[in-house]
Amino acid sequence: MYANPKSAARAPITVPRLHEMKGKGEKIVVLTAYDASFAAQCDAAGVDVVLVGDSLGMVVQGHSSTLPVSVDDMVYHSAAVARGLTGALLVADMPFMSFRDVDTALSTAERLMAQGGAAMVKLEGADYVLDIVHELTRRAVPVCAHLGLTPQSVHKFGGYRMQGKTKAAAEQLLADAKALAHAGADLLVLEAVPGALAKRVTAETAIPTIGIGAGPGCDGQVLVLYDMLGITPGKRPRFSKDFLAGHGSVLDGIRAYADAVRAGKFPGAEHTF
Ligand code: KIV
Repeated sequence: MYANPKSAARAPITVPRLHEMKGKGEKIVVLTAYDASFAAQCDAAGVDVVLVGDSLGMVVQGHSSTLPVSVDDMVYHSAAVARGLTGALLVADMPFMSFRDVDTALSTAERLMAQGGAAMVKLEGADYVLDIVHELTRRAVPVCAHLGLTPQSVHKFGGYRMQGKTKAAAEQLLADAKALAHAGADLLVLEAVPGALAKRVTAETAIPTIGIGAGPGCDGQVLVLYDMLGITPGKRPRFSKDFLAGHGSVLDGIRAYADAVRAGKFPGAEHTF
């Protein structure tokens, strides 16, 4: 009754396993995916965590921000990704305003997990989400927090800008990370913050950190799949790298990314602020 009906080629990644990886200094490899086929490629390449990010609003739907993404969109794409996975842990983003209060957050999490197949939900923000993180985790919903450049705040930031640059902002981000861990978050994405700050947060916070544009000092790394395959229209972010270039297939490109993260070769100095 408790066996996973899909036969996995490796032991499925679990939330406790992510904590164990931090403890052992094993890098956590994360990629976004939005459909079953790419999810299966990530899974076959040994990616640990697949994130159905609301970045799908930009890279799949063609919007200029993540704000138009709906809970229905997230459930649809999460369910598709879930069908492509056997071993990787599935994390699904809670889109803009879908966690505006505890009740709304609980309903969104219910749909992402029950219909979308997610094992963890991700939400952006700091102090104003602490009670939501607490209530979700009290009900056995694993939560990934997200600090730094939180794309749902693009209009408040005035663009996709690096965060945590001043001493005060860095101290605030560190305090926010500790508060989120204390509220029950199991994972923390740090986006577009100075490498030295991300390293300090990683050392001083009990939960695993996953960096994107946050340097090599995090417990793991995440990239947007289409950025690292070099197919996102426009300019690739400086912190990303085209791993398809020089590799013969999507699978080999993803394997190269996973190997580079595990070997501490990605991100390099040229990808770090
Ligand atoms: O939406 C997303 O893909 C994300 C990652 C960039 C971390 O939040």
